[in-house]
Amino acid sequence: MKKSKTIEKNARIVNRYLNSKLKGNPKMLYDAAAHLIVHGGKRLRPHMVIKSCQILGGTITTATPAASAVEMIHNFTLVHDDIMDNDEMRHGVPTVHKKFGMPIAILAGDVLFSKAYQIISDSKLSNDAKVQLVSRLAKACVDVCEGQLLDVKMAEEKRIPTQKEYIAMIGKKTAALFDVSCSMGAICATNNQKDISNLSNFGKSLGIAFQITDDLIGVMGDPKITKKPVGNDLREGKKSLPILMAIKSSKGNDRKVILKAFGNSKATKKDLKNAVDVIRSLGIEEEVRTQALKYAEMAKKSLSEYSGSAKTELTDLLDFVVRRSL
Ligand code: IPE
Ligand code: IPE
Ligand code: MG
Ligand code: MG
Repeated sequence: MKKSKTIEKNARIVNRYLNSKLKGNPKMLYDAAAHLIVHGGKRLRPHMVIKSCQILGGTITTATPAASAVEMIHNFTLVHDDIMDNDEMRHGVPTVHKKFGMPIAILAGDVLFSKAYQIISDSKLSNDAKVQLVSRLAKACVDVCEGQLLDVKMAEEKRIPTQKEYIAMIGKKTAALFDVSCSMGAICATNNQKDISNLSNFGKSLGIAFQITDDLIGVMGDPKITKKPVGNDLREGKKSLPILMAIKSSKGNDRKVILKAFGNSKATKKDLKNAVDVIRSLGIEEEVRTQALKYAEMAKKSLSEYSGSAKTELTDLLDFVVRRSL
């Protein structure tokens, strides 16, 4: 499933903007901050900011600073997430802490975080819009932190969470940023609270569908496409939906093979591969995809009042999100 031409077009605009903002001294700090951005990324969130602005009559130019700010925040979360998750590869290159070391990675994340707010404050939007954007983005960052802590805590605990707890966790760690991408795009175009809330709901449901699919790819994806290894979620004991479904539905030797790798920092590549093979054989993929589709349907409903090409592109994005393999 390929990304649309407009995502690519919006990505180019945002990339140019980001490049211009991620320069300075000491150079190494900015290289570290730009590292993941220059080596890949789908730029889904900035696309959503721009389309959410356009669906309400706004323009790309008005939405570009907010779109770039959101992408910076996203990359800040990735840099810190890779530290927390002990991940060594992303976008086919070493993660920021692996390449630049821990102190610079922490600072690179902090630079991305701070610049995002600077970009919004320096934009040409009205002061009222800027305050709303800053406030919403700050709230989303707090949600991400809460969600990330829930993710880490769940991984540490032996207990297998319920699906409801898993959804609440990903609602914060991932969907909060998709939600705010859409509401920020809406705020760039309008002050109408109903419109802002419709777009916010769209982003939230899409974000949940996105993370469910991401968790599936995390266990069953093709590393050649995802450019990150599979099996890390298992090794780290992550309670992602496919993993918790697999543990619940497996028996006997299958279960033993999964549990040998699950949450075991010493699990070998072979242990991980065996566990992934068992999970694949359990046939839970369809069930997980059905859950993602359920949230995609909810997202679609949030846009029922709108029409036009921006709506088509946002709904096309839903298809991409649930069918993607990257
Ligand atoms: C990765 O998000 C982090 C999650 C929320 C799962 P993306 O898949 O959107 O990251 P990019 O495309 O590499 O920037
Ligand atoms: C994504 O977390 C959420 C954030 C980065 C805040 P994951 O840990 O599930 O995502 P990947 O697999 O590292 O991209
Ligand atoms: Mg991670
Ligand atoms: Mg994580």
